[in-house]
Amino acid sequence: MTQKTWTAVDKYVSEMLVSSDKALDAALEASADSGLPQIAVAPNQGKLLMLLARSINARTILEIGTLGGYSTIWLARALPEGGRVVTLEAEPRHAEVARANFDRAGLAQMIDLRLGKALDTLPKLAAERPAPFDFIFIDADKENIPDYFTWSLKLARPGSMIIVDNVVRDGKVIDAESHNHSIRGVRRFNEMLKQETRISATTIQTVGVKGYDGFTLALVTG
Ligand code: SAH
Ligand code: DHB
Ligand code: MG
Repeated sequence: MTQKTWTAVDKYVSEMLVSSDKALDAALEASADSGLPQIAVAPNQGKLLMLLARSINARTILEIGTLGGYSTIWLARALPEGGRVVTLEAEPRHAEVARANFDRAGLAQMIDLRLGKALDTLPKLAAERPAPFDFIFIDADKENIPDYFTWSLKLARPGSMIIVDNVVRDGKVIDAESHNHSIRGVRRFNEMLKQETRISATTIQTVGVKGYDGFTLALVTG
């Protein structure tokens, strides 16, 4: 089985189960037209995030790494009336495209996009003493995943779900000698998970239109 099959099956699954949606399609189109990297979650992954968030009745969601806001729109769709997504993005151009996408989706009032490096915006967010986030999606630069996870634990509560994207990277995650900063970030994150008593976590490998990668799911238990 190769990329061609994975892509074809993702297409089939998305056609069968993920109904096409003007706001989401427009967000991807605007992102591509603006030259943003095409690394948003796949449609079936976006729906997975939405279903996970909905299944825990999330009312408050934190996302680290907005890009053009494709995953953000999926996450916002999980929320009930009055729910809120805070999403953090370092690149002004990405933020600008995302904001236009939120407007077009009619979701601007429930999405709070904060521009800046997440390691700067997270302490500011924490200083506001927000209500704990029920659901957190970590999907920015991979070398800082350990720090993002530490902040996420501070901003969560028992019962919160934390999802981390891109934790397998074609299997490179098992290379203990890797000098790649992303891989080292993911490996340090796994060391943290192994020690951390306040969470229960697992990692699922995925194949699909985005290649061979994976998600970590961490439930805050204490
Ligand atoms: N979640 C998006 C994809 C995010 S891609 C989706 O699935 O639709 C990763 C994003 O993280 C990029 O937009 C990149 O600019 C942003 N990023 C990278 N380093 C960052 C940092 N230090 N702080 C905040 N955002 C960062
Ligand atoms: C890539 C994919 C991602 O989902 C991401 O968040 C960052 C980078 C990539 O394929 O390069
Ligand atoms: Mg990602």
